[in-house]
Amino acid sequence: MAKKEYSSKLCKELTRLAEDPKLNVRHRPIRYENGTVLPVEITGVFPAIEGKAELTVDKFLGGGFAGQVYRCRLTDLELPSGGGIPGLETGKLYAIKIVIPPSSFSRWFRNTTYWLAFQGPFSSQVNLGACRAGLAWQKLVRRASLVKFGRETAVKDAYASFWDSNLNAYGEITEWVEGRMWKLEADGDITKRFDWRNVPLADTGSPEYIDKRRFMAGMVELMHDMGAPEFARQYEWSTMKSQPNCMKRSDTEDGGLCAIDFRAGLALLPWLPMSPGDFKLILDGLFKRHSLVQFDRCDLSRLEVYVAQHPDVFSDVRPMIDELKIQDRIYRRSLLDITHHGLRPIFDRELQRDIIAGLVEGYAADDLVDEVFAEKLRKGGLRFALFHLLGAVPILGKMVRQRWGSRAFRKHMLSLFTKPTYFKAALKARAAHDLIGWHRAGRTNEVRTRKLAAAPGLFFIERFTIGLLPVGLHCFCARPIIAWNGFVGFFKFIYDFASDEAFREQWFLDQVIEGEKDGMLSKEEHDHIVSIIKEPFIVKYLKSMAVHFCTIPVTQIVSVVTGGFIAAYVLSKGGSKAEASLAFAGIVALFQVTPISPGSLCRGFYVVYLMIRERNWRDYLVAAPLSFVKYIGYLAFPLQMTTTYPHLARFLVSRRATAVVHIIPVFGEHGALMEHWVFDLFFNVPQIFGRHIKSVLTAWMLLGMAIILPALFGVTTKGWVGLMIALIAVFIFPRMIFFPLLSRGK
Ligand SMILES: Nc1ncnc2c1ncn2[C@@H]1O[C@H](COP(=O)(O)OP(=O)(O)O)[C@@H](O)[C@H]1O
Ligand SMILES: [Mg+2]
Repeated sequence: MAKKEYSSKLCKELTRLAEDPKLNVRHRPIRYENGTVLPVEITGVFPAIEGKAELTVDKFLGGGFAGQVYRCRLTDLELPSGGGIPGLETGKLYAIKIVIPPSSFSRWFRNTTYWLAFQGPFSSQVNLGACRAGLAWQKLVRRASLVKFGRETAVKDAYASFWDSNLNAYGEITEWVEGRMWKLEADGDITKRFDWRNVPLADTGSPEYIDKRRFMAGMVELMHDMGAPEFARQYEWSTMKSQPNCMKRSDTEDGGLCAIDFRAGLALLPWLPMSPGDFKLILDGLFKRHSLVQFDRCDLSRLEVYVAQHPDVFSDVRPMIDELKIQDRIYRRSLLDITHHGLRPIFDRELQRDIIAGLVEGYAADDLVDEVFAEKLRKGGLRFALFHLLGAVPILGKMVRQRWGSRAFRKHMLSLFTKPTYFKAALKARAAHDLIGWHRAGRTNEVRTRKLAAAPGLFFIERFTIGLLPVGLHCFCARPIIAWNGFVGFFKFIYDFASDEAFREQWFLDQVIEGEKDGMLSKEEHDHIVSIIKEPFIVKYLKSMAVHFCTIPVTQIVSVVTGGFIAAYVLSKGGSKAEASLAFAGIVALFQVTPISPGSLCRGFYVVYLMIRERNWRDYLVAAPLSFVKYIGYLAFPLQMTTTYPHLARFLVSRRATAVVHIIPVFGEHGALMEHWVFDLFFNVPQIFGRHIKSVLTAWMLLGMAIILPALFGVTTKGWVGLMIALIAVFIFPRMIFFPLLSRGK
């Protein structure tokens, strides 16, 4: 429960070390720290005027495959006199997306799929045409949202583009939207949602969910109408990843939904669907639009038709549509794109030149070539062909290209071998650069990071030995004491939690505060929960959480001890060591997957003990049986609270259930569909079951009878007794004894 320690100040210091001006090549930052000041030269989206801006990073928000996203404050803005970009004002917050992912795996994956699709570098990162065309589309869709939704706030505004020469990528300045992904709603009848197109919002328990679903379907429709069908993938519900691209605003009066993401990261290849929805999109592409690969291709004549249908809405943006046409043409012509250009590049010299220029943009962004060499490459010919083909050679190809294409790199290599001081400085800079990554990943804490940065030799030894291990193991090998401290910290937490009421209360308050920050709780709900913290049931809930925490280690200890006994037994019976270890591993694994474990039994009996002590069945009706089950046991009390403290219950389940789903990459993202499913599964479904518990138990009893009674014929007396006991204990008992007991006084 210790927080991962992270020092932004350290990362900034290391960044400065990594960018040692004495070196001939530079280690570019992977991403920016909060507080970084970025001076950039901007071009407005509309009007397309040029100026200077200063962005100060307020918060790094993360990033998927398309790029990295920040919340920044515009701290300075200089535009030519008389000019202005509507919406852009000093002092305000903006969303900044720089089109290069912060994770090297994501970057590689994005670039590879794009290369397979279009045989060129990722355009919106390196090509001005692609950057500008994308922004113009966003702005036009925003306009069109007036027609479709009656308000422009349905699409986030786009203000300006810039080239980031630190990261070698284009970036965009767009509107900052305050709001939330969605509220996980308590819904007593989720089947009503199936008819999401027609059901009146007031008739369902999930109005926010249905509203979002309709809004996103509306966005898809709108983009198809406007001639941007491939952009619509960002809002297709069935991709299961599109939901976070749409936020419910809290910064407008109507609190309407808003589309915030128009930059896809991954091209859609026909043989590589990456979500259920992709299958349909691939088939649509193939048969309706005859498009083999999809990304952001659009139909400009269709756009013209749409614009002509709504002349009043688009009357003033004509210059932007004209720019879009020019930029889109530049963008498309910068790619080889066999599935669209076909054989044309072979005959069309002009096109050939454009494609080569597009490829060279990519080499420059990868720091493979300097400007002098880039100019030579743009002329094409044998030199270009050879350079291009070298790209197909793994690892070695890149080494040769860098030495061939960049004078600075050649100088760098020469100095490394001839000047010891240069070599030392380079080593230091490289270590600093890599250590930033280590520190961010939690591989090294601040003290150790500093130590290794000061001793690069030591760093490189570690880098190529235990540094190759996964994070956890690496930390453990480097500093076993940390693992030990974590272990001790865990038990101390449990001890404090179990023995100290104030500590429990504080823990609970922290959870609630975080819930409000995440948008899971409104201000009123938060205040209400804080006001009931002293009520007996909450106190009891927190106490039983303590029991839950205490039981976490129980299962592990019991499983290891049992495994040890079984292994010893196997050995004593003459089994080999391998067999004994296998038995051990099997037992430990078995304990992890059985639904009821020693730990969960402790928990269950504790709740039963509470019931007996207080002679109170009703308050534990739901919690008692659930407590016996592993994992789900954590939800026992929250589910019990639904009638008395509905907000709190919903909140606790949302937090627990969704924390688990966030481990899953991409699909488990906050706000994505899977999160909602998990919440339904653990909150809404059990409640529906709860309401029908009598029928469920009756059905269970009848099922047992149907299976076991026929089997009674033709067994021995011993078997007969066994089966009857099983039937009564497992199938009949819950319905005939438990149920009447538990529901007494209800
Ligand atoms: N304008 C914005 N206002 C508020 N939050 C934003 C904004 N843009 C992005 N975000 C947040 O950052 C996340 C990622 O942004 P997004 O543009 O969807 O990038 P990607 O999907 O490529 O990672 C969003 O899901 C949202 O939480
Ligand atoms: Mg997104």
